[in-house]
Amino acid sequence: MPPESDKIVELERHIETLEQINEGLRQSFEELSQLYRLSETIASAMTFSRVLTLLLEVMHEVVDYEAAVLYLYDERGAQLRPNLEKDVTADLKARFAAQMEDGSLLWALKQGRILALADNRRGRADDAESEEGRSFLLVPIQARGKPVGLLDLAVAAGAGSFSQRDLSLIGILANQAGISLENARLYEAIRRDYTDVIQALAGAVDARDHYTRQHSNRVSLYGVAIARHMRLEQSVIEAVQFGGLLHDIGKIGIPDQILNKPSRLSEEEFQVMKSHSALGAGLLRQVDSLSHLVPLVLYHHERFDGRGYPDGLVGKQIPLGARILNVADSFETITSDRVYHKARSFDEGLAEIKRCSGGQFDPEIVAAFDGVFGELTRWRRGLAELP
Ligand SMILES: [Fe+2]
Ligand SMILES: [Fe+2]
Repeated sequence: MPPESDKIVELERHIETLEQINEGLRQSFEELSQLYRLSETIASAMTFSRVLTLLLEVMHEVVDYEAAVLYLYDERGAQLRPNLEKDVTADLKARFAAQMEDGSLLWALKQGRILALADNRRGRADDAESEEGRSFLLVPIQARGKPVGLLDLAVAAGAGSFSQRDLSLIGILANQAGISLENARLYEAIRRDYTDVIQALAGAVDARDHYTRQHSNRVSLYGVAIARHMRLEQSVIEAVQFGGLLHDIGKIGIPDQILNKPSRLSEEEFQVMKSHSALGAGLLRQVDSLSHLVPLVLYHHERFDGRGYPDGLVGKQIPLGARILNVADSFETITSDRVYHKARSFDEGLAEIKRCSGGQFDPEIVAAFDGVFGELTRWRRGLAELP
Protein backbone atom coordinates (compact mmCIF):
# COMPACT_ATOMS: atom_id res chain seq x y z
CA MET A 1 0.00 0.00 0.00
CA PRO A 2 1.45 3.40 -0.90
CA PRO A 3 1.57 5.89 1.93
CA GLU A 4 -1.17 8.55 2.18
CA SER A 5 1.04 11.29 0.66
CA ASP A 6 1.63 9.18 -2.50
CA LYS A 7 -2.11 8.78 -2.89
CA ILE A 8 -2.58 12.51 -2.65
CA VAL A 9 0.10 13.12 -5.30
CA GLU A 10 -1.54 10.58 -7.57
CA LEU A 11 -4.94 12.17 -7.03
CA GLU A 12 -3.53 15.59 -7.81
CA ARG A 13 -2.07 14.21 -11.04
CA HIS A 14 -5.46 12.82 -11.99
CA ILE A 15 -7.09 16.12 -11.28
CA GLU A 16 -4.52 17.89 -13.41
CA THR A 17 -5.09 15.47 -16.29
CA LEU A 18 -8.83 15.94 -15.97
CA GLU A 19 -8.39 19.71 -16.05
CA GLN A 20 -6.26 19.41 -19.15
CA ILE A 21 -8.88 17.24 -20.83
CA ASN A 22 -11.51 19.71 -19.79
CA GLU A 23 -9.55 22.60 -21.24
CA GLY A 24 -9.01 20.63 -24.44
CA LEU A 25 -12.73 19.90 -24.68
CA ARG A 26 -13.58 23.52 -24.04
CA GLN A 27 -11.22 24.60 -26.81
CA SER A 28 -12.58 22.01 -29.23
CA PHE A 29 -16.10 23.15 -28.42
CA GLU A 30 -15.18 26.77 -29.09
CA GLU A 31 -13.50 25.82 -32.35
CA LEU A 32 -16.48 23.78 -33.43
CA SER A 33 -18.86 26.59 -32.59
CA GLN A 34 -16.71 29.02 -34.55
CA LEU A 35 -16.53 26.61 -37.47
CA TYR A 36 -20.28 26.08 -37.37
CA ARG A 37 -20.95 29.82 -37.28
CA LEU A 38 -18.56 30.51 -40.16
CA SER A 39 -19.89 27.62 -42.26
CA GLU A 40 -23.45 28.81 -41.69
CA THR A 41 -22.45 32.31 -42.76
CA ILE A 42 -21.10 31.01 -46.06
CA ALA A 43 -24.07 28.68 -46.54
CA SER A 44 -26.51 31.57 -46.09
CA ALA A 45 -25.33 33.29 -49.26
CA MET A 46 -27.73 32.86 -52.16
CA THR A 47 -25.69 34.34 -54.96
CA PHE A 48 -22.39 33.29 -56.44
CA SER A 49 -20.69 36.63 -55.85
CA ARG A 50 -21.96 36.82 -52.26
CA VAL A 51 -20.43 33.41 -51.44
CA LEU A 52 -17.07 34.62 -52.74
CA THR A 53 -17.17 37.86 -50.74
CA LEU A 54 -18.20 35.99 -47.59
CA LEU A 55 -15.46 33.40 -48.03
CA LEU A 56 -12.82 36.14 -47.98
CA GLU A 57 -14.40 37.71 -44.88
CA VAL A 58 -14.82 34.46 -43.00
CA MET A 59 -11.27 33.26 -43.77
CA HIS A 60 -9.98 36.38 -42.08
CA GLU A 61 -11.37 35.08 -38.79
CA VAL A 62 -9.40 31.87 -39.17
CA VAL A 63 -6.14 33.09 -40.71
CA ASP A 64 -4.90 36.61 -40.18
CA TYR A 65 -3.90 37.03 -43.83
CA GLU A 66 -2.24 40.11 -45.29
CA ALA A 67 -3.78 39.87 -48.71
CA ALA A 68 -5.83 37.45 -50.74
CA VAL A 69 -6.72 36.66 -54.33
CA LEU A 70 -9.66 34.45 -55.20
CA TYR A 71 -9.53 32.68 -58.53
CA LEU A 72 -12.33 30.89 -60.34
CA TYR A 73 -11.62 27.85 -62.43
CA ASP A 74 -12.62 28.05 -66.07
CA GLU A 75 -13.26 24.48 -67.05
CA ARG A 76 -13.21 25.04 -70.79
CA GLY A 77 -9.85 26.78 -70.86
CA ALA A 78 -8.53 24.74 -67.91
CA GLN A 79 -7.41 28.04 -66.39
CA LEU A 80 -7.75 29.99 -63.19
CA ARG A 81 -8.95 33.57 -63.49
CA PRO A 82 -8.70 36.13 -60.70
CA ASN A 83 -12.17 37.14 -59.56
CA LEU A 84 -11.76 38.98 -56.26
CA GLU A 85 -8.82 40.42 -54.39
CA LYS A 86 -8.28 41.98 -50.99
CA ASP A 87 -5.46 44.25 -49.82
CA VAL A 88 -3.14 43.32 -52.68
CA THR A 89 -0.29 45.86 -52.85
CA ALA A 90 1.79 46.42 -56.00
CA ASP A 91 4.61 44.39 -54.47
CA LEU A 92 2.34 41.49 -53.61
CA LYS A 93 0.66 41.61 -56.99
CA ALA A 94 3.90 40.46 -58.60
CA ARG A 95 4.23 37.58 -56.12
CA PHE A 96 0.70 36.40 -56.76
CA ALA A 97 1.24 36.69 -60.51
CA ALA A 98 4.47 34.69 -60.31
CA GLN A 99 2.61 31.77 -58.73
CA MET A 100 0.16 31.81 -61.60
CA GLU A 101 3.01 31.86 -64.12
CA ASP A 102 5.08 29.09 -62.62
CA GLY A 103 2.03 26.83 -62.45
CA SER A 104 1.89 26.52 -58.64
CA LEU A 105 -1.76 27.51 -58.54
CA LEU A 106 -2.95 24.96 -61.06
CA TRP A 107 -0.76 22.36 -59.43
CA ALA A 108 -2.32 23.03 -56.01
CA LEU A 109 -5.76 22.85 -57.57
CA LYS A 110 -4.95 19.50 -59.13
CA GLN A 111 -3.65 18.15 -55.84
CA GLY A 112 -6.91 19.13 -54.19
CA ARG A 113 -5.28 19.95 -50.90
CA ILE A 114 -3.90 23.03 -49.20
CA LEU A 115 -0.30 23.94 -49.95
CA ALA A 116 1.84 26.28 -47.89
CA LEU A 117 4.56 27.97 -49.96
CA ALA A 118 7.42 29.94 -48.43
CA ASP A 119 7.87 33.36 -49.99
CA ASN A 120 11.43 32.84 -51.23
CA ARG A 121 11.96 36.35 -52.46
CA ARG A 122 11.80 37.78 -49.00
CA GLY A 123 14.52 37.66 -46.40
CA ARG A 124 16.66 40.72 -47.05
CA ALA A 125 18.76 41.61 -43.98
CA ASP A 126 17.08 44.99 -43.57
CA ASP A 127 13.65 43.47 -43.63
CA ALA A 128 12.27 43.37 -40.12
CA GLU A 129 9.80 40.64 -41.00
CA SER A 130 12.34 38.45 -42.70
CA GLU A 131 13.01 36.30 -39.66
CA GLU A 132 9.46 35.15 -39.54
CA GLY A 133 9.09 35.33 -43.30
CA ARG A 134 5.90 35.29 -45.26
CA SER A 135 4.16 32.41 -46.86
CA PHE A 136 1.31 31.76 -49.23
CA LEU A 137 -1.47 29.35 -48.55
CA LEU A 138 -2.99 27.91 -51.69
CA VAL A 139 -6.47 26.66 -50.83
CA PRO A 140 -8.29 24.74 -53.57
CA ILE A 141 -12.08 25.08 -53.67
CA GLN A 142 -13.97 22.07 -54.95
CA ALA A 143 -17.57 21.04 -55.36
CA ARG A 144 -18.42 17.35 -55.67
CA GLY A 145 -14.79 16.55 -56.34
CA LYS A 146 -14.55 19.05 -59.20
CA PRO A 147 -12.34 22.15 -59.08
CA VAL A 148 -14.29 25.40 -58.73
CA GLY A 149 -11.60 27.86 -57.76
CA LEU A 150 -8.65 28.62 -55.57
CA LEU A 151 -7.99 30.97 -52.71
CA ASP A 152 -4.46 32.32 -52.47
CA LEU A 153 -3.64 33.87 -49.10
CA ALA A 154 -0.48 35.83 -48.30
CA VAL A 155 0.24 35.28 -44.61
CA ALA A 156 2.91 36.99 -42.52
CA ALA A 157 4.19 33.75 -41.01
CA GLY A 158 6.56 31.01 -42.06
CA ALA A 159 5.18 28.14 -44.10
CA GLY A 160 5.86 25.76 -41.23
CA SER A 161 3.88 27.73 -38.71
CA PHE A 162 0.42 26.43 -39.60
CA SER A 163 -0.86 23.71 -37.35
CA GLN A 164 -2.80 20.75 -38.71
CA ARG A 165 -5.80 22.24 -36.97
CA ASP A 166 -5.46 25.56 -38.85
CA LEU A 167 -5.20 23.74 -42.14
CA SER A 168 -8.18 21.49 -41.54
CA LEU A 169 -10.29 24.47 -40.45
CA ILE A 170 -9.36 26.32 -43.65
CA GLY A 171 -10.06 23.18 -45.67
CA ILE A 172 -13.52 22.72 -44.16
CA LEU A 173 -14.47 26.33 -44.89
CA ALA A 174 -13.19 26.02 -48.47
CA ASN A 175 -15.31 22.90 -48.91
CA GLN A 176 -18.34 24.68 -47.54
CA ALA A 177 -17.68 27.50 -50.01
CA GLY A 178 -17.44 24.94 -52.82
CA ILE A 179 -20.84 23.48 -51.94
CA SER A 180 -22.38 26.94 -51.54
CA LEU A 181 -20.98 28.06 -54.90
CA GLU A 182 -22.49 25.01 -56.56
CA ASN A 183 -25.84 25.73 -54.86
CA ALA A 184 -25.70 29.38 -55.86
CA ARG A 185 -24.99 28.40 -59.46
CA LEU A 186 -28.00 26.07 -59.48
CA TYR A 187 -30.17 28.64 -57.74
CA GLU A 188 -29.19 31.31 -60.26
CA ALA A 189 -29.90 28.93 -63.15
CA ILE A 190 -33.35 28.09 -61.74
CA ARG A 191 -34.01 31.78 -61.24
CA ARG A 192 -33.11 32.53 -64.85
CA ASP A 193 -35.51 29.81 -65.99
CA TYR A 194 -38.20 31.17 -63.67
CA THR A 195 -37.76 34.67 -65.12
CA ASP A 196 -37.79 33.30 -68.68
CA VAL A 197 -41.02 31.36 -68.08
CA ILE A 198 -42.71 34.39 -66.53
CA GLN A 199 -41.54 36.60 -69.38
CA ALA A 200 -42.88 34.08 -71.89
CA LEU A 201 -46.25 34.02 -70.10
CA ALA A 202 -46.38 37.81 -70.08
CA GLY A 203 -45.48 37.81 -73.78
CA ALA A 204 -48.32 35.36 -74.48
CA VAL A 205 -50.85 37.77 -72.95
CA ASP A 206 -49.44 40.82 -74.71
CA ALA A 207 -49.35 38.96 -78.04
CA ARG A 208 -53.13 38.53 -78.00
CA ASP A 209 -53.55 42.24 -78.47
CA HIS A 210 -51.04 43.91 -80.76
CA TYR A 211 -51.71 47.26 -79.09
CA THR A 212 -50.31 46.02 -75.82
CA ARG A 213 -47.15 44.35 -77.06
CA GLN A 214 -44.43 45.03 -74.47
CA HIS A 215 -47.09 46.42 -72.12
CA SER A 216 -46.41 43.97 -69.28
CA ASN A 217 -42.66 44.31 -69.66
CA ARG A 218 -42.84 48.09 -69.37
CA VAL A 219 -45.27 48.00 -66.43
CA SER A 220 -42.75 45.75 -64.70
CA LEU A 221 -39.83 48.06 -65.50
CA TYR A 222 -41.65 51.22 -64.37
CA GLY A 223 -42.87 49.46 -61.22
CA VAL A 224 -39.35 48.33 -60.32
CA ALA A 225 -38.01 51.86 -60.90
CA ILE A 226 -40.63 53.25 -58.48
CA ALA A 227 -40.00 50.49 -55.89
CA ARG A 228 -36.23 51.07 -56.04
CA HIS A 229 -36.72 54.80 -55.66
CA MET A 230 -38.78 54.08 -52.53
CA ARG A 231 -35.89 51.93 -51.27
CA LEU A 232 -38.19 48.99 -50.65
CA GLU A 233 -36.83 45.60 -49.66
CA GLN A 234 -35.39 43.42 -52.41
CA SER A 235 -38.21 40.87 -51.97
CA VAL A 236 -40.83 43.60 -52.54
CA ILE A 237 -38.96 44.93 -55.58
CA GLU A 238 -38.91 41.42 -57.05
CA ALA A 239 -42.62 40.93 -56.36
CA VAL A 240 -43.29 44.17 -58.25
CA GLN A 241 -41.04 42.98 -61.09
CA PHE A 242 -42.83 39.64 -61.53
CA GLY A 243 -46.24 41.01 -60.53
CA GLY A 244 -45.81 43.64 -63.25
CA LEU A 245 -45.02 41.00 -65.84
CA LEU A 246 -48.07 38.94 -64.83
CA HIS A 247 -50.58 41.62 -63.81
CA ASP A 248 -52.79 41.08 -66.88
CA ILE A 249 -52.30 37.31 -67.13
CA GLY A 250 -56.05 36.88 -66.54
CA LYS A 251 -56.69 38.44 -69.97
CA ILE A 252 -55.90 34.96 -71.30
CA GLY A 253 -59.45 34.12 -70.26
CA ILE A 254 -61.13 37.18 -71.87
CA PRO A 255 -62.77 36.53 -75.28
CA ASP A 256 -61.06 38.11 -78.29
CA GLN A 257 -64.10 40.12 -79.35
CA ILE A 258 -64.03 41.95 -76.02
CA LEU A 259 -60.25 42.21 -75.66
CA ASN A 260 -59.76 43.61 -79.16
CA LYS A 261 -63.03 45.44 -79.62
CA PRO A 262 -62.24 48.64 -81.56
CA SER A 263 -65.21 50.55 -80.10
CA ARG A 264 -66.34 51.30 -76.58
CA LEU A 265 -67.21 48.28 -74.41
CA SER A 266 -70.82 47.87 -73.30
CA GLU A 267 -71.49 47.75 -69.57
CA GLU A 268 -71.80 43.97 -69.78
CA GLU A 269 -68.57 43.60 -71.75
CA PHE A 270 -66.80 45.88 -69.32
CA GLN A 271 -67.87 43.59 -66.46
CA VAL A 272 -66.28 40.65 -68.31
CA MET A 273 -63.12 42.66 -68.96
CA LYS A 274 -62.92 43.59 -65.27
CA SER A 275 -62.88 39.93 -64.30
CA HIS A 276 -59.28 39.64 -65.62
CA SER A 277 -57.72 40.61 -62.29
CA ALA A 278 -59.59 37.90 -60.36
CA LEU A 279 -58.99 35.39 -63.17
CA GLY A 280 -55.26 36.14 -63.09
CA ALA A 281 -55.12 35.84 -59.30
CA GLY A 282 -56.92 32.50 -59.58
CA LEU A 283 -54.28 31.22 -62.00
CA LEU A 284 -51.36 32.32 -59.82
CA ARG A 285 -52.93 30.89 -56.68
CA GLN A 286 -52.46 27.44 -58.16
CA VAL A 287 -48.70 27.82 -58.51
CA ASP A 288 -46.77 27.72 -55.23
CA SER A 289 -43.86 29.82 -56.40
CA LEU A 290 -46.18 32.52 -57.81
CA SER A 291 -48.87 32.65 -55.14
CA HIS A 292 -47.15 35.54 -53.31
CA LEU A 293 -48.02 37.68 -56.36
CA VAL A 294 -51.78 37.12 -55.94
CA PRO A 295 -52.44 40.38 -54.00
CA LEU A 296 -50.59 42.44 -56.62
CA VAL A 297 -52.45 40.92 -59.54
CA LEU A 298 -55.85 40.80 -57.84
CA TYR A 299 -55.74 44.45 -56.75
CA HIS A 300 -53.89 46.20 -59.57
CA HIS A 301 -57.12 47.98 -60.59
CA GLU A 302 -58.05 49.11 -57.09
CA ARG A 303 -58.08 52.90 -56.69
CA PHE A 304 -56.77 54.90 -53.74
CA ASP A 305 -60.18 56.64 -53.41
CA GLY A 306 -61.97 53.28 -53.18
CA ARG A 307 -63.62 53.45 -56.60
CA GLY A 308 -61.62 50.62 -58.14
CA TYR A 309 -62.28 46.91 -58.56
CA PRO A 310 -62.73 44.06 -57.68
CA ASP A 311 -63.24 44.84 -53.95
CA GLY A 312 -63.31 48.65 -53.74
CA LEU A 313 -60.43 48.70 -51.24
CA VAL A 314 -59.48 52.17 -49.97
CA GLY A 315 -56.05 53.79 -49.40
CA LYS A 316 -53.52 51.63 -47.58
CA GLN A 317 -55.96 48.70 -47.57
CA ILE A 318 -54.64 48.16 -51.08
CA PRO A 319 -51.36 46.21 -50.94
CA LEU A 320 -48.32 48.42 -51.59
CA GLY A 321 -47.20 46.41 -54.64
CA ALA A 322 -50.66 46.79 -56.20
CA ARG A 323 -50.64 50.57 -55.58
CA ILE A 324 -47.26 50.76 -57.35
CA LEU A 325 -48.45 48.63 -60.28
CA ASN A 326 -51.56 50.78 -60.66
CA VAL A 327 -49.42 53.87 -61.29
CA ALA A 328 -47.03 51.97 -63.60
CA ASP A 329 -49.92 50.35 -65.50
CA SER A 330 -51.81 53.61 -65.97
CA PHE A 331 -48.71 55.51 -67.10
CA GLU A 332 -47.85 52.77 -69.60
CA THR A 333 -51.40 52.79 -70.97
CA ILE A 334 -51.50 56.59 -71.30
CA THR A 335 -48.14 56.71 -73.11
CA SER A 336 -48.79 53.95 -75.68
CA ASP A 337 -51.19 53.57 -78.57
CA ARG A 338 -54.44 51.81 -77.71
CA VAL A 339 -57.57 50.91 -79.64
CA TYR A 340 -59.33 53.84 -78.01
CA HIS A 341 -56.57 56.46 -77.87
CA LYS A 342 -53.28 57.62 -79.38
CA ALA A 343 -50.15 57.52 -77.29
CA ARG A 344 -49.52 60.66 -75.29
CA SER A 345 -46.04 61.98 -74.44
CA PHE A 346 -44.16 61.06 -71.26
CA ASP A 347 -44.67 64.60 -69.93
CA GLU A 348 -48.40 64.42 -70.58
CA GLY A 349 -48.45 61.02 -68.87
CA LEU A 350 -46.75 62.43 -65.78
CA ALA A 351 -49.16 65.37 -65.68
CA GLU A 352 -52.11 62.97 -65.80
CA ILE A 353 -50.66 60.79 -63.02
CA LYS A 354 -50.10 63.87 -60.85
CA ARG A 355 -53.60 65.16 -61.58
CA CYS A 356 -55.04 61.93 -60.16
CA SER A 357 -52.82 61.86 -57.06
CA GLY A 358 -55.02 61.20 -54.03
CA GLY A 359 -57.86 60.15 -56.35
CA GLN A 360 -56.92 57.08 -58.32
CA PHE A 361 -53.34 57.02 -57.04
CA ASP A 362 -51.58 56.95 -53.68
CA PRO A 363 -49.82 60.35 -53.35
CA GLU A 364 -46.72 58.61 -51.90
CA ILE A 365 -46.36 56.46 -55.00
CA VAL A 366 -46.98 59.45 -57.26
CA ALA A 367 -44.19 61.34 -55.45
CA ALA A 368 -41.82 58.37 -55.97
CA PHE A 369 -42.82 58.18 -59.62
CA ASP A 370 -42.16 61.90 -60.00
CA GLY A 371 -38.75 61.34 -58.39
CA VAL A 372 -37.76 58.69 -60.87
CA PHE A 373 -39.45 60.27 -63.91
CA GLY A 374 -36.34 62.10 -65.19
CA GLU A 375 -34.45 58.83 -65.39
CA LEU A 376 -37.37 57.07 -67.07
CA THR A 377 -37.46 59.80 -69.71
CA ARG A 378 -33.73 59.45 -70.36
CA TRP A 379 -34.21 55.67 -70.59
CA ARG A 380 -37.05 56.11 -73.09
CA ARG A 381 -34.77 58.26 -75.27
CA GLY A 382 -32.15 55.53 -75.12
CA LEU A 383 -29.84 57.72 -73.06
CA ALA A 384 -29.72 55.76 -69.83
CA GLU A 385 -30.18 52.38 -68.24
CA LEU A 386 -33.34 51.93 -66.23
CA PRO A 387 -32.97 52.94 -62.57
FE1 LIG B 1 -55.16 45.07 -65.86
FE1 LIG C 1 -52.21 46.38 -67.64
